[in-house]
Amino acid sequence: MSTTFTLDTSTSRAHPVPEPLRRLTVPAIAKRKNAEPIVMLTAYTARMAQLLDKHCDLLLVGDSLGQVIYGLDTTVKVTLDMMIAHGAAVVRGSYHSVVVVDLPFGSYEASPQAAFESAARVMKETGAAAVKLEGGTAMAETISFLSRRGIPVMAHVGLTPQAVNALGGYGARGRSEAEAATILADAVAVAEAGAFALVVEGVVEPLARRITETVACPTIGIGASPACDGQVLVVDDMLGMFERVPRFVERFDDLAVRIDSAAATYATAVRERQFPSEKQLYR
Ligand code: KIV
Repeated sequence: MSTTFTLDTSTSRAHPVPEPLRRLTVPAIAKRKNAEPIVMLTAYTARMAQLLDKHCDLLLVGDSLGQVIYGLDTTVKVTLDMMIAHGAAVVRGSYHSVVVVDLPFGSYEASPQAAFESAARVMKETGAAAVKLEGGTAMAETISFLSRRGIPVMAHVGLTPQAVNALGGYGARGRSEAEAATILADAVAVAEAGAFALVVEGVVEPLARRITETVACPTIGIGASPACDGQVLVVDDMLGMFERVPRFVERFDDLAVRIDSAAATYATAVRERQFPSEKQLYR
């Protein structure tokens, strides 16, 4: 991975100046089967993209932003306009990672044509390199339709949060032989349809391993298996922004506690008239 870059923070917080511009490409990611593990994190804002970019191969503008940024109860209420606004911000804040934007619930399921229209808007209005959509065998035709028309698709099988109402919750999937066989068939169908990579979410470990061994494209696990070709986490989970820590999450920081402490210190400084001090004043 190239680390030769500069961020021109003197001119704008939101516009890193790539020097040289060396963004990874979708074909480069597609080749990472049984190779160096792929690093993916979600990002929803330009500043977070700037901070994560050099460490990641892929930045996913996940529809998890509905819960993480907007406080919605599920991702079902996320709109295409929300995804496009955040997708454009993440593209502006990054120069190295491949940016993938989730197609939200309701924007692609009806037909391949509907999916193409939504995905084309995402690509035109954000500058992202690919879209992600949830679903297995039922989405294979759509994945093939988009891929053959120049829109790289990352697929997503196993626990598919947009289907929470049909699944009845967010529990791990693939515990029964029948369900495991269906999810494996889903994975094979979307890979054969042309997905350049496949998110495998919330399935029992042996199934994630089996999917990874079976499909030709790289798999990216979340609550899946270390055998996957890469891993993804929701960045706010990884940073310790939420009290609830699902089993599949490892917290790599305790940011909520640190923000709480910084806010408390600021509040005390204001109340005690210690802030602003002489050094923050214009004389
Ligand atoms: O929306 C999202 O953030 C995702 C990841 C959890 C894979 O789909």
